[in-house]
Amino acid sequence: MKRSGEHPARPLPPGPKGLDAARFLARTTRDFKQPMMDMALEYGEVAHVRNRRRDFVVVSGHEAARHVLIGNQDNYRKGLEYELLRIVLGEGLLTSEGELWRKQRRLVQPMFAKRYLKNFTAHMTRATAEALDGEPFAGLPEGEVLDISEVMMALTLDIVGRALFGADLSGATARKVGPAMNDVLGLGTRMTRRLPTFVLANLPGMNLEKAISVNPEGRRFQRALADLKEVIDDLLEERSRQSDTGDDLVGLMLSARDEETGETMSREQIGDELMTFMLAGHETTSNALAWTWRHLSLNPGARDRLFEEVDTALGDRIPDMDDMEEMPWTRACVEEAMRIDSPVWTVGRQALEDDEILGYRIPKGASVMVLISMIHRDPRIWPNPEGYDPTRFLPENAKGRPRHAYMPFGAGRRVCLGSTFATVEATLLAAMISRRLRFDLPRGAEVEAEAVITLRPKNGLPMHVFHRQPDPVPDEAPEPDLAAV
Ligand code: HEM
Repeated sequence: MKRSGEHPARPLPPGPKGLDAARFLARTTRDFKQPMMDMALEYGEVAHVRNRRRDFVVVSGHEAARHVLIGNQDNYRKGLEYELLRIVLGEGLLTSEGELWRKQRRLVQPMFAKRYLKNFTAHMTRATAEALDGEPFAGLPEGEVLDISEVMMALTLDIVGRALFGADLSGATARKVGPAMNDVLGLGTRMTRRLPTFVLANLPGMNLEKAISVNPEGRRFQRALADLKEVIDDLLEERSRQSDTGDDLVGLMLSARDEETGETMSREQIGDELMTFMLAGHETTSNALAWTWRHLSLNPGARDRLFEEVDTALGDRIPDMDDMEEMPWTRACVEEAMRIDSPVWTVGRQALEDDEILGYRIPKGASVMVLISMIHRDPRIWPNPEGYDPTRFLPENAKGRPRHAYMPFGAGRRVCLGSTFATVEATLLAAMISRRLRFDLPRGAEVEAEAVITLRPKNGLPMHVFHRQPDPVPDEAPEPDLAAV
């Protein structure tokens, strides 16, 4: 694969033209994911379509993805799809670019080093133990139906609150944050894709934010965003009043100083980062768990093996980081769920200069969508790609597989900052919950996926809840060792 600008004469990648292109583009205003997947299936691992203003390139093979995200990453910035996220997250780590991003990443990355994870893990397991012994599971009649997607959402939000913000994001706050997050992601994505929004946003003096605000759904979106910002503001207000800034992520940011200038982070920048962690840190992991529960319910053999593993590895102990090694099957169950239903199904980039991928020309300015979902279903690497088979992720079977054939956390310098946090969290939660409960999909239930920014169950995930065994966990979950941070 050549570097930027070396081969402007190469052909564009294959793709729909004329009426076919118009039909394809019309479909993307209703649903983005399926038309992209169809295009990849029809035209191959690098495909192209153009509307009147812009080139779109769909990348669905691991080699081409590697080129965009790693090999020639300097030629790509975050794509237009991040425009909506920028309204929500401002200039946080996920959305910022250049020097600001570099400075923030340098500052925050050390917080996610393995040595700090032990402390985070204590928060994860404590929150889970409380959910199992209290809201929403304790005393639940056998077979009662709960929306497991909603339960996972509340639990992972609670964990982000405790581990990263030192705050209580459960109870009333979770009841405010959950629906607000839904509106921000759901309404925001739907509105952004609508043709009138697109046309309006491109008029002189307009932008996406202004275009969104002109209709009632847009105003609901803005109210939801204001609710989220209020939660963050309150949290920052409370923390700024405390004389000791504390040693979690918020504390670190409040006391951080730029090595060169000695400047502290502005309140606005800290707010953007907190919003980023609130969103990036819980919605994705929650969806990973939701899809895991769905696949396990449909694959009783895999689930029985998981029950056996956690019964043996944990007994009635509360797990910690070291238990990860004892639970390879549980981890594999989560990883295989993330292969089939990758919580982040695509990452978008924009080409800064002409480039060449697999012999095709990528024009400057093109929107490049890396379809993680398709890479994860490449039949050359994943035989029977639709089949749920956690054995693929047992260490002995992963040998020899191209490294980037699996990339739920992205790749390159913008790779997920919370990948280890999320893998540990999802595995330990799956283990602790499976020790006590079994979730069954109602007979014949169809679970549809909705591709908003993340891939999540469209109408929630109602499942019957059964208690596996009544043994209580010990009364006292271990106190998190906050001194370790
Ligand atoms: C299963 C759970 C998760 C998945 C699938 C996931 C996936 C991703 C992906 C694909 C990206 C790269 C986006 C791009 O290249 O455009 C990303 C970035 C990011 N993720 Fe995650 N994530 C998860 C959990 C988390 C958690 C738990 C946190 C924080 C505690 C987190 C924080 C971030 C941040 C800050 C970035 C931006 C990194 C940067 O650009 O420097 N994520 N995530």
